[in-house]
Amino acid sequence: MRTLKTYLSKKDILSIQDLDAKEIHSILDLAYKLKKSLHQSKKKGTRPLSQPLKGKVLGMIFQKPSTRTRISFEVGMYQLGGDAVYLSTNDIQLSRGESMEDTGHTLSLYLDCIMARVYDHSDIQRLARSSSVPVINGLSDLFHPCQVLADLLTIREYKKKLKGLTVAWIGDGDNVCNDLMLGCAKTGIRMVVACPKQYRPPDEIVRLATKASELYGAEITITEDPTVAAKDADVVTTDTFVSIGKEEERTSREATFLPRYQVNSELMKLAKQDAIFMHCLPAKRGQEVTSDVIDGKASAVWDEAENRLHVQKALLCMLMKARL
Ligand code: CP
Ligand code: NVA
Repeated sequence: MRTLKTYLSKKDILSIQDLDAKEIHSILDLAYKLKKSLHQSKKKGTRPLSQPLKGKVLGMIFQKPSTRTRISFEVGMYQLGGDAVYLSTNDIQLSRGESMEDTGHTLSLYLDCIMARVYDHSDIQRLARSSSVPVINGLSDLFHPCQVLADLLTIREYKKKLKGLTVAWIGDGDNVCNDLMLGCAKTGIRMVVACPKQYRPPDEIVRLATKASELYGAEITITEDPTVAAKDADVVTTDTFVSIGKEEERTSREATFLPRYQVNSELMKLAKQDAIFMHCLPAKRGQEVTSDVIDGKASAVWDEAENRLHVQKALLCMLMKARL
């Protein structure tokens, strides 16, 4: 019988808002350790000895397609000694109208943790409320916390610090931008978001990020001018103009974002000389970013994609209380 205590003691990560600064730094530290150990064992041709999640099973619900999130979670569980089960919504009763609540109750009987990628953020909130095991958001219309943990690890690796840096976000004030504002605020990074008025991040999230930024000595600024954002930035980052589910808005979105919000070499020149370019991927070359930037020297996108694996392994260890 699942008791109230079980529900109260589990932690869900639906947004970076669910992590305090100390937890973010601990996840990054553990992710870095796991990364080093994986690289070392790959070099030696051996398998990592420790299997801290042996016997644990992660269920992964996908309402939307994914390359990085699916594979990195699945491989991450295997590397930690556990298992992962892929659950496309088309193949489970959610597709026939079973509620998120009944799905959460049922899956909690078999699984030790659930990761879900959903359209509507309220779906993952309902899943989390009805599950007695931890629930991780693998992307919703509002947030993408795993991406942002990977972004912070990447920035820390390249810049050897987080506090005091400046991140410029160019383009859509979307799910990644929302969590990045919260992540930057909590780690002392100044973030300047440049986006057209109608694609600003939601006021409520800007307010939360601003409140956190005051606590951690950071700053969140919203502007319409990409050159203001890019000026002297340590990191320039962007995302697709057309997120999954917004395909019908493609024409109007492209008309609004292009050419002003494209990250190209002219814009990168405004940033610091050693600035890096980041993108959560998938990218559309020639739209939000030009090929010479994303495939150029300043690009950190492959390390960023790799770091999804390491931060998620750290997160899974934390949520499933792995003995390391
Ligand atoms: N960045 C990211 O979440 O990629 P996928 O959509 O491929 O999972
Ligand atoms: N904003 C994008 C991120 C993809 C990883 C989307 O929601 O499709």
